Amino acid sequence: MNSGSPHKRGKARILDQRIIAEGYREMKLSYSSDSNGRPRVRPSSGQFFTILPHHYPLSIMRRPFAYSDSDENGFSFIYEIRGPATRDLANLDDGSPVDWIGPLGSTFPEAPENSRPVLVAGGIGVGPILYLARELAEAGAESLVVLGARNVGLVPRLEWPETAEVRICTDDGSHGIHGTVLDGLSNTNVTNAAFYTCGPHPMMAAVHRFAVDTDRPCWVSMEEMMACGVGACQGCAIPVKDEDDLSRPAYKQACVEGPIFDSRELIW
Ligand SMILES: Cc1cc2nc3c(=O)[nH]c(=O)nc-3n(C[C@H](O)[C@H](O)[C@H](O)COP(=O)(O)OP(=O)(O)OC[C@H]3O[C@@H](n4cnc5c(N)ncnc54)[C@H](O)[C@@H]3O)c2cc1C
Ligand code: FES
Repeated sequence: MNSGSPHKRGKARILDQRIIAEGYREMKLSYSSDSNGRPRVRPSSGQFFTILPHHYPLSIMRRPFAYSDSDENGFSFIYEIRGPATRDLANLDDGSPVDWIGPLGSTFPEAPENSRPVLVAGGIGVGPILYLARELAEAGAESLVVLGARNVGLVPRLEWPETAEVRICTDDGSHGIHGTVLDGLSNTNVTNAAFYTCGPHPMMAAVHRFAVDTDRPCWVSMEEMMACGVGACQGCAIPVKDEDDLSRPAYKQACVEGPIFDSRELIW
């Protein structure tokens, strides 16, 4: 969990992609052995990259995705098929080349000493949370992971570290706990919790309020609309509290000053 590192542009090839839930894929990419200057900057959890499938017309914007894993040979991410870019990714064959820029953005900070990391994810937020759970397990920490989905078909089939306690919550009760991620947190001792969350805005806002009510720290990953991803276009501004003038918001660029923020810094 280091701080932001210099990013690189590289070529990768699709090694594998598999369906992990209805409309969700996990894609693994290997750095191309033939690319000039093979990128070796290892990302950390919370960071993201932007991707441009190789055959795209130049007019198509790069799309940002969070890392869900990485090693020295390549990296993975989890995505939901939503529109043209993700539909296109889902139709690419193994071996197809993609052009990417990463690692970008900030990383999840370490939890305060003696705290228990509580990771809360929903929807497309599951990728960075899986990566964080893996990093925490490697560092010897035991975490609680609470995952929310509308129904059993949308629950991602993933390998979580053995040291993580995983609770699944579904809105319709078709799998695991019947209810939202907050129901998944009820009857849990959170006196030493450190919350990390990524997913739909209302879910993260609810986790933020829960953390404030229980006086515990909370970090959120703001997956805002991004165009350039590198601080050049102002397209990802999010309102934050201006400590010098609380009557009006200040703004931060989610791509370079985030995507990870202390939840108390943001205006919800
Ligand atoms: C830092 C960051 C991390 C992300 N991580 C993931 C991830 O791990 N998995 C995942 O599935 N998605 C992730 N996203 C969202 C992902 O970028 C969009 O789902 C994707 O760009 C959709 O493109 P599309 O052409 O398929 O759909 P479109 O039809 O273009 O858009 C569908 C919806 O996706 C969102 N979206 C579109 N373009 C962007 C963009 N440039 N930036 C952000 N959101 C956009 C909007 O909500 C839009 O309504 C992340 C976004 C950001 C900013
Ligand atoms: S996406 Fe361009 S400045 Fe953040």
